[in-house]
Amino acid sequence: MTLDIQFTNLHKPEKGNIVLFSFENDEGGDSVKVINKIIHNALDRAMKADNYTGKFGQVCKLVSPDENHDYILVVGLGMKDKFSVSKAKEAGGIALQALQRKVESFHIMADWDFTEYAGYLVLGAVLKNYEFKKYCLDKSKKDEFRQLKAIKIMASDYEGAQKQWTDLSAVADGVYLTRDLVNEPANQLNPAEFVNRIKKLESLGLMVEVINKEKMQELGFGALLGVAQGSNNEPYTVVMQWNGNPDDKDPPLAFLGKGVTFDSGGISLKPANGMEDMKMDMAGAATVTGLMSVLAKRKAKVNVIGVVGLVENMVSGHAQRPGDIVRSASGQTIEVLNTDAEGRLVLADLLWYTQDRFKPRFMVNLATLTGAMVVALGYEYAGLFSNDDELAGKLSTTGHDSGEKLWRMPMGDAYDKAINSDFADMKNIGGRDGGSITAAQFLKRFVNDTPWAHLDIAGTAYTAKPNYCGPKGATAFGVNLLNHFVETYYEK
Ligand code: BES
Ligand code: MN
Ligand code: ZN
Repeated sequence: MTLDIQFTNLHKPEKGNIVLFSFENDEGGDSVKVINKIIHNALDRAMKADNYTGKFGQVCKLVSPDENHDYILVVGLGMKDKFSVSKAKEAGGIALQALQRKVESFHIMADWDFTEYAGYLVLGAVLKNYEFKKYCLDKSKKDEFRQLKAIKIMASDYEGAQKQWTDLSAVADGVYLTRDLVNEPANQLNPAEFVNRIKKLESLGLMVEVINKEKMQELGFGALLGVAQGSNNEPYTVVMQWNGNPDDKDPPLAFLGKGVTFDSGGISLKPANGMEDMKMDMAGAATVTGLMSVLAKRKAKVNVIGVVGLVENMVSGHAQRPGDIVRSASGQTIEVLNTDAEGRLVLADLLWYTQDRFKPRFMVNLATLTGAMVVALGYEYAGLFSNDDELAGKLSTTGHDSGEKLWRMPMGDAYDKAINSDFADMKNIGGRDGGSITAAQFLKRFVNDTPWAHLDIAGTAYTAKPNYCGPKGATAFGVNLLNHFVETYYEK
């Protein structure tokens, strides 16, 4: 990120764009009053004309009548007692959205009553500012590109805000990394290139271990390798380790991600319409990668394992056939009735291997696993499946606080039965009904009593239209959530 972000104490900005905030039905903090005075009550009049009340997300925008300043913006924060970290983040995004793309810099004035949220206002603006334009080479269409170069934040406790931002900037970088990985088309980001990108994180102090095809054969990763065999691009499993607390004798935490760099469906080919979106089928792996980078960047005092399975699901003379039976790392056999239900095959081997090797405190996996998840929950919540109420509870709470929301889904024997097979230990599909749940039941067969949660991010990893915290495309859903989760419950 090349944005220049500066913190100072509250003062009257001499020139430029000014962003102010106010709570609902509140007369506004000192900054609003000071600026209003400089421009001879023009702000007051504009707010009246706009029926501005400070309702959450409401924006009053005017061109400053004095010659020194450009835009002046007041953004509503809603009721004071309902304000939160995730609302602050949203408000920062809304402010950036309201400024035009050609704005090069702006001042944020964070009054004393929300100075503790200043870092999150900045985070929201920085996340909203993300663009993936590396293949748009025609820079003559300047209006299509954001011009923002600097944000200046004034806060009464600006040193506190700056300190908060040191950690939050690691989150912003992690989100950018995840979004870049997800947005990258599959001809650019194949499993080998994904490995290269992860290797760059060694400079942050992450340990990176690459497990290639031969090694996976030795480990008996028959389920993962079956998915990969139709592609000319070799598969990889990557293990990342962040040992931020070497004195901690407790087992590490483990996060795992589905990394299908392109999901054509294989021989059970997907329809042409919308298939291009399946470049994002590695979002689980990208989120784990982004998370690990955040933990390393902010030197989190915690020991964490990140495991990603990187494969391409393609069609060819080598491709896996419906009806094939494979043997997973756990020893259990799987009848592959649909080659498009490939994510669970990849995760089956990762989950087994991770619990067997690291005996982690818990495993949380992320995957764009099922279309049925999108049918059930749409784009607002990700599905949460778990064999452990305590873990699920912590994740739900963090989801609520971080704004990346989770909805717990049921599991149970009745669903598990749906994946029994006549010819093998299980089959990889359980029928159309409850498709997300039977997929989760499949994963559960590979976690061996380890506390585990599965986040199905099929509906939340990618957005067809811009939202408050970013443009169309990758969202990096889960990076904020899991960073917050680790920070709240496991850091010493
Ligand atoms: N990657 C897809 C799931 C998906 C769909 C993610 C839409 C994001 C948006 C997954 O591999 C898949 O194809 N699942 C099948 C499972 C079915 C064959 C049992 C599905 O959901 O149709
Ligand atoms: Mn698929
Ligand atoms: Zn898939």
